[in-house]
Amino acid sequence: MKFDPVKVVHVYYKPMDDKIFVGRLALNNRKLFFEYDASFIETGLNLSPFKLPLKPGVIVADDFTFDGLFGLFNDSLPDGWGRLLLDRALTKQKINPGSLSLLDRLSFVGSHGMGALIYEPEAEHTRNIPHESLDEIAKEITEFQEHDSDKYVEDLLYLGGSSAGARPKVLMHLDDEHWLIKFPSYLDPKDIGQVEYAYHLMAQDAGLDLPKAKLFPARKGLGFFASKRFDKTDNSRVHMHTVSGLLHADHRAPSLDYEMIMKATMHLTKEMKECEKQYRSCVFNVLSHNRDDHSKNFSFLMDSKGVWRVSPSYDLTFSSGPSGEHCSMVMGVGKDPGIEQLLELAKISNIKKSDALTIIDGVRSSVSKWSSFAKEGGVGVSTSKLIDSAITKIIQENFF
Ligand SMILES: Nc1ncnc2c1ncn2[C@@H]1O[C@H](COP(=O)(O)OP(=O)(O)O)[C@@H](O)[C@H]1O
Ligand SMILES: [Mg+2]
Repeated sequence: MKFDPVKVVHVYYKPMDDKIFVGRLALNNRKLFFEYDASFIETGLNLSPFKLPLKPGVIVADDFTFDGLFGLFNDSLPDGWGRLLLDRALTKQKINPGSLSLLDRLSFVGSHGMGALIYEPEAEHTRNIPHESLDEIAKEITEFQEHDSDKYVEDLLYLGGSSAGARPKVLMHLDDEHWLIKFPSYLDPKDIGQVEYAYHLMAQDAGLDLPKAKLFPARKGLGFFASKRFDKTDNSRVHMHTVSGLLHADHRAPSLDYEMIMKATMHLTKEMKECEKQYRSCVFNVLSHNRDDHSKNFSFLMDSKGVWRVSPSYDLTFSSGPSGEHCSMVMGVGKDPGIEQLLELAKISNIKKSDALTIIDGVRSSVSKWSSFAKEGGVGVSTSKLIDSAITKIIQENFF
């Protein structure tokens, strides 16, 4: 691993083989500046319409949500797991992670980030370690987390350093497809992957738009939950922007309301179908006790013609938000939102009451079948019962 501090980063958009120059990001006196290149303005591709709209001239970051970084680029930076790996790998090389600027971190992302943006110059680090089996990777993660060993840190960084989110994960090409594979952290119950898979089955039944998902088998013990990447195929990449990045809404500070998510959906996609899709995932989160519904767990995708749509739903699982409340409120209610708030949300989203009731009813019917999805996914009996009683309580208290 080699590290030279950078003062200017060139940003490119690379949906296919050819990369398109987007603009320059510069650091001066601890402030960040960005300028779209004139040639990119001509494309009309508005990569981040709310906080970094396409226009000529230098734009100064004047908001410190992401330490002064624009949300468009903050979305490329790994947070929990990926950031930890880079910081530990740097420490191992006697480099103080605190001495890295945000531009240095973007240069470590280079061409390996999620979505379709790439950053140059790209920092050098080991990239070509041969892949191990998933069991071996799980063992390396355990070694890293439970025994505080840095022996495999470069390997894990290579495999999952560009990913976002808290849980240990790797980005891998397996069985001819690109997957995001999640592993239990040492604090997680052992069947956390099975729970997420059972939620996937339940969400599928409830009509949500989802990426393909599966449990990759483990040689010993339970399998690993994997979701097929919707931002990448062998020869194309799709621009992906989280609600966090789009609206400059910090995912660690629960300040978001589904009202904002719906408004952003209407503004960006201008499609009723997309609004209904977003609404259905909100209803699912409420009814299925998925309360880790923060601003990074919602994304939009933009195609190469500049058309936006809601991304398939991800990170759907049983979770408790801050003090048991939803991270994103539903029309001002974070604790146990019910049918009243969901209908209010439909109203401000221009979704007809009858359509909203049909969606709520369909989702309620799917979540009531939790036990059968849990069984199919291989969830342990006690975990399954715990989730069953949480879902039943929601249905009985707020949906009858
Ligand atoms: N199938 C997918 N394709 C592309 N990106 C994904 C996919 N699933 C998740 N992501 C991205 O990866 C991030 C981490 O995944 P997530 O399931 O949220 O993990 P965690 O449980 O650690 O939060 C998400 O915030 C999202 O940006
Ligand atoms: Mg997440």
